[in-house]
Amino acid sequence: MDLSPFPYLQGNYAPVCEERDLDASALRVEGKVPEQLVGAYMRDGANVAYQPNHYVYPLDGDGMVHALYLNKGDVHYRNRWVQTSHLKTERQFGHMIYGSVGKLLPVPQEVIDAGGEASPVRNTANTNVLYHGGKLLAMWEGGFPHLLNNDLSTVGLFDYDGALQAGDALTAHPKICPTSGDLVSCTQRWDSPDYRVQVFDKTGKHKQTIPVSFPRKGIIHDLQITDNYIVIFYAPAFHNLEKAMRGEDPFEWQPQLGTKIIAIPRDGVGEQIVFETEAFFSWHFCNGYEEGGKLIIDYIWINSIPFTQAQGTGVEKQPRRMQRMTLDLKTKQVTNERFSDVFCEFSRCDERRMGKHYRYGFAASSNRDWDDAHGYNCTGRYDFKTGETTLWEFGQGANAGEPSYVPNPDSDREEDGWVTNFVYNPGEGAFLSILSAGDFSSGPVCKIHIPGRVPNGFHGNWCEGLTLA
Ligand SMILES: [Fe+2]
Repeated sequence: MDLSPFPYLQGNYAPVCEERDLDASALRVEGKVPEQLVGAYMRDGANVAYQPNHYVYPLDGDGMVHALYLNKGDVHYRNRWVQTSHLKTERQFGHMIYGSVGKLLPVPQEVIDAGGEASPVRNTANTNVLYHGGKLLAMWEGGFPHLLNNDLSTVGLFDYDGALQAGDALTAHPKICPTSGDLVSCTQRWDSPDYRVQVFDKTGKHKQTIPVSFPRKGIIHDLQITDNYIVIFYAPAFHNLEKAMRGEDPFEWQPQLGTKIIAIPRDGVGEQIVFETEAFFSWHFCNGYEEGGKLIIDYIWINSIPFTQAQGTGVEKQPRRMQRMTLDLKTKQVTNERFSDVFCEFSRCDERRMGKHYRYGFAASSNRDWDDAHGYNCTGRYDFKTGETTLWEFGQGANAGEPSYVPNPDSDREEDGWVTNFVYNPGEGAFLSILSAGDFSSGPVCKIHIPGRVPNGFHGNWCEGLTLA
């Protein structure tokens, strides 16, 4: 492959071409893996399998899941592509067939005649990997999720036993309610501007649909729950499929429209409340909760849509910060305050407190001059009680991925859990970092060094109790 035209396929953004299995004899453990951890940390990401025609970060690239299975101190690393119908068809022909989301290609008749995937839009399955209701799912917001086995082999598309209809696109950012175990998710469609909250119970059975109407299909990536509401941002960021099919830039940013914030009652009955504010974009929430008739929403603010069709645009160029938004349910007043000046993205929390009062947010963060740097060299802890931001720096040239919180099964305290992510540090290599959530200043309690590379990716989760055996 010639990846030189693509800025977001350079360095540790470049794909790896091997699927590997590495047991404890091949992995070097620095420090000690906490004995309480039995499960797997899994992370999805983009990993192009064939020479691309174009590359829009962070929307393109075949999904690959990287997993570290931990079992009372034992460790095992494995990575696998998600075997989507698009990737399988390309494997059959031995070359790239489906283009970039920024430059779609018509599907050749010979591919269709041979029984290959007919849709020109690739289901990348590259955005998130989540374990809920005993099901391991690789997710992409433009279509159905893919069901995986615990060993990362692909079962196939998963429609929640018929709950998803053809054309439904399930978000890659559902939230699990810690009270009920429900998965609060949503579907959007390419052929409709409307949005539907979809709730699945703790066994994965479909439970509820709540429709939300919009005049135009927006790019809505994440959602936040509180005890009684689902909150979404409707930014003036749109994708125009007709333009995409003509090869024109399909992404539109119309700041004069402002950004709307919608609070949707979780009972599906109450009135949906619309808040209006000046235009901003956001990929990710951190957490949110209710207090005194207000919704407190923590999220990563971005000044505008962070990408266009042009090569080399992408999230890293746009200013972005941790912000705290307060929504007054009675007066509809919005306050939107910067919490920290640190450049950050990929915000998470202790998800036992999802939708509830909490103290710490965690995010991929940077303490270096941005310039043309790509990625984040620190993991940050954002203390909403003291207002303090604490960074652990892995090295000036390092890239630290999204931090996932791993609860300590023996303690309910946020401080007693761990924060884990894949890191690549030139000179040191790739490793899984495990930081103590309560003590960032001492650095990782454990690093599991992985020979070769684990490319920068997107979202991951701790899968409690999931093992290879
Ligand atoms: Fe995301």
